[in-house]
Amino acid sequence: MWRGLTIISKTVNSKNKPIGFFDSGVGGLTVFSEFRKLMPNEDCVYFGDTKNMPYGEKSKEQLINFSKRAFEFFEKKNVKAVVMACNTTSATVYDVLKNDYPFKLYPIIQSVSKILAQLPASKIGVFATPATIKSKAYSININKFDKSKEIIEIACPEWVKLVEEGKENSPEAFRSIKEKLDEMMRYNPEKIVLGCTHYPYLLKQLSQVAGKDIFINPAKYFVEYIKSDLESLDMISTASEKGSEAFYTSASPENFRVAAGLFYAIKDLPQKL
Ligand code: DGL
Repeated sequence: MWRGLTIISKTVNSKNKPIGFFDSGVGGLTVFSEFRKLMPNEDCVYFGDTKNMPYGEKSKEQLINFSKRAFEFFEKKNVKAVVMACNTTSATVYDVLKNDYPFKLYPIIQSVSKILAQLPASKIGVFATPATIKSKAYSININKFDKSKEIIEIACPEWVKLVEEGKENSPEAFRSIKEKLDEMMRYNPEKIVLGCTHYPYLLKQLSQVAGKDIFINPAKYFVEYIKSDLESLDMISTASEKGSEAFYTSASPENFRVAAGLFYAIKDLPQKL
């Protein structure tokens, strides 16, 4: 009897542990905002490693070190899972570190590839950071499910900084967006995946050059995948009220909150790590 009760309370306790969210900055909030809508009762801890962004221009070794530090932080926070709301580390670090921590890791690219492979499009464009493009993680993972899909992968090295610096409407943003879309459109893709979590911040500007419907923000697919996986593992929180949220950044908390504003209103100033 007592033994049974202990087991039940242990399971409930682990279900009710928080979920970590990890990105190089405010990009992961494009995932976090969808997650909050879908699973509002989960407690969440978000870490944006803004001091070290842009991740897309870092070496694999650097990215492994940044991720290790973030995962150690999440381990101290006693999370049940970490959402890698960052394509760059999903592409380069996930395979290296996936078995090293006592929590479940959800990498964005690997989690959404099946659904992207089912899109009614034979040519799919992907805009992403230089490191993600170099890894070919999108074409490798989508082609695992459908070999016939042609994936066109183009790096947009300037876009993350434009978002972090709040320069979405600057002439340099429009120039760069136009240049990258011109390059992409030469291949005639039917859909274009925003393969960096910062890029949905530029959706308004992108849509002024190409129609809005061509772009895919994988965040919705990603959070649906996380929800169904947590359900299958019986790891959904049993809490009946809205979960807590805490934000951490490795650079200026004020800048983080301002840059985040377009996607998510952060009430309390993030804490500096
Ligand atoms: N937002 C991240 C991604 O999805 C990283 C961007 C960066 O810091 O370069 O790839």
